[in-house]
Amino acid sequence: MDRPHSGGCTEVMQHNGNALVVLAHHRTDSLTAHIARRTVAQLEAAGRRVDLLDLHAEGFDPRMNPADQPDWDDREKVYSAETRDHMRRILAADEVIAVFPVYWMSVPALLKGWIDRVWNYGFAYGRSTPRLAGKRILWLGLAGATGSDDVIEPMRQILDSQLNAGIAYYCGFAHAAVGLLPDAEERPQSIGAEGELVVGEAVTGAARTAQYTEFDARAAAFVADFLAGTDQDRAADRSAARALA
Ligand SMILES: Cc1cc2nc3c(=O)[nH]c(=O)nc-3n(C[C@H](O)[C@H](O)[C@H](O)COP(=O)(O)O)c2cc1C
Repeated sequence: MDRPHSGGCTEVMQHNGNALVVLAHHRTDSLTAHIARRTVAQLEAAGRRVDLLDLHAEGFDPRMNPADQPDWDDREKVYSAETRDHMRRILAADEVIAVFPVYWMSVPALLKGWIDRVWNYGFAYGRSTPRLAGKRILWLGLAGATGSDDVIEPMRQILDSQLNAGIAYYCGFAHAAVGLLPDAEERPQSIGAEGELVVGEAVTGAARTAQYTEFDARAAAFVADFLAGTDQDRAADRSAARALA
């Protein structure tokens, strides 16, 4: 796309693919929404055309319904208009970045319902050539637990099996990664000796500002790694194509 330059000449903005950022949070002033907005800016700076899908703001209903329930005898079933619209948005994207708070070691119901209804039979799975083949996904999850808590590593492994192996690769994604961001709470949370939730004192003032800055940097690093992987894969594809030519 050409954009007029302030000096009168034309600055050519290189577009480097399409990304879909899926925000699964009910509050626009949440840390999750803040990270999603920063991720959009980072992707745009990397030349992506970004579609921001704010599931709550767009009124997405995560409940399964008869129109979107798969029919195992008909993988060509025409699903609801809302679901088909979301399918088009996924198809238009080379990369999907889902930004969500970790709820019960998993994704919140809002995001789970989106996957249940939209990543449907005949579209996301159930074909020899999956429609989502070759796409890449980053699951960016914010967790209340502190980074030093013993629960973090098992949480990462659970999310990895559930989201990468259980969903993304099953649906033909070429690459799937989890970016887990602990310390999302103002009051640090950990699990006590009896398995109970321990909520510490609120971090305030300059310490809180520094914590936010560090949090933003960790999120940006996950996104940068993810984008670098895409660039490497594209370079490998180009050199494979040259070798075949
Ligand atoms: C229903 C619910 C379940 C949660 N489960 C977990 C969990 O399993 N592990 C964890 O570390 N934090 C858990 N949390 C804390 C959230 O991850 C945390 O509040 C959120 O990431 C903070 O981001 P936000 O301010 O954008 O909501 C849970 C919070 C809620 C409300």
